[in-house]
Amino acid sequence: MSESIPASLPLRNDLIGEEPYGAPQLDVPVCLNVNENPYAPDPAVCDSIAARVREIAPTLNRYPDREHVALRQAFAAYLKRESGVELSVDQLWGANGSNEIMLQVFQAFGGPGRIALGCDPTYSMYPEYARDTFTTWQVAHRNEDFTLNVERTIAAIGELHPSIVLLTSPNNPTGTPLDMGDLKRILDVCATMPVAGAGEGVHPVVVVDEAYIEFRNPGTPSAATLIAEHSNLAVSRTMSKAFAFAGARVGYMAASKGIIDCLRIVRMPYHLSAVTQAAALAAFEHTDEQLSRVDHLRETRERTAAWLKTQTYKGQPLDVAESASNFLMFGGHFDDRDRVFRELLDRGVLIRVVGPDGWMRVCMGTDEEMARFREALAEVLRIVEA
Ligand SMILES: Cc1ncc(COP(=O)(O)O)c(C=O)c1O
Repeated sequence: MSESIPASLPLRNDLIGEEPYGAPQLDVPVCLNVNENPYAPDPAVCDSIAARVREIAPTLNRYPDREHVALRQAFAAYLKRESGVELSVDQLWGANGSNEIMLQVFQAFGGPGRIALGCDPTYSMYPEYARDTFTTWQVAHRNEDFTLNVERTIAAIGELHPSIVLLTSPNNPTGTPLDMGDLKRILDVCATMPVAGAGEGVHPVVVVDEAYIEFRNPGTPSAATLIAEHSNLAVSRTMSKAFAFAGARVGYMAASKGIIDCLRIVRMPYHLSAVTQAAALAAFEHTDEQLSRVDHLRETRERTAAWLKTQTYKGQPLDVAESASNFLMFGGHFDDRDRVFRELLDRGVLIRVVGPDGWMRVCMGTDEEMARFREALAEVLRIVEA
């Protein structure tokens, strides 16, 4: 039991001993631990946000547009531009970060007697959405190179009959892209698969979490291109990463109207504040500026991966997982990654201890931040070697 929680409180039995989830939020010079875009919005974007919020401020005595129609139109326009996919407003849905979208997915399609299947190692919040909605969380392990093991995943779907199949593209913390051929095979299997705890003719929802998709290699399609053919496919997106808008908390989902209507059943009334909606609409007016550093961050990833491979830990070169995202998982054989983490922190650089044993994750910062990371890591690796 967390020390601050009195034993007299009727906390749910299954939550006793649980800790709140979250990466450390520390005040250090170089924060490379939560996969944000390190570039702050331009002053023109800040001015537009302030103006839009000022505009709606006199209406704040009223509840906001519960259906956030203007924002859903903006999501549609963005997806058309970013992925070439044309969807209508009723195929889009927004919430406070894709975390909330995903919780709504579990609330709508999970629950007691229902199973959600993911492919680990993967995003550590997924089991928490499951826990919070009394859904059973199951995993099909990835291959050694962190690509999806499609055979194993399909076998698990056939055995477990999950109501939610959760795939992540690119995956966090590994950075691994999802192959479209693999996704299509899984969609085909799910199209006729029964769901445990549901009636006849019910099939799993396949959710592709594309939180980092804008960092993919140019020319790679988004899973959203398959929505028209697959009514049980849902694609989750966020403004938190490439779009450089994490502080505003805006995520969205693209899917069939049917799936969106299921999320509308479980959402809290007026879940997306008028301030959030106004800020997001203002940011979308500046899509070019907001995305202007994505190419550079992709190049930074490639340069950093190449540099990491030249470094050694206890005589062995560091491994670097292939990444299509704005972060890299590296190491592979750190026998004391907590020490590496602490030594980096002592030098003002915060990264993340996450993923399988022996690995750590760093997200791409500004050029200056990356120079400090390289300098600090090189020094730490020398010290550890001694
Ligand atoms: C894979 C993945 N999905 C979803 C999220 C949630 O992002 P947000 O709630 O900010 O949209 C994250 C955040 O790190 C993530 O890594």
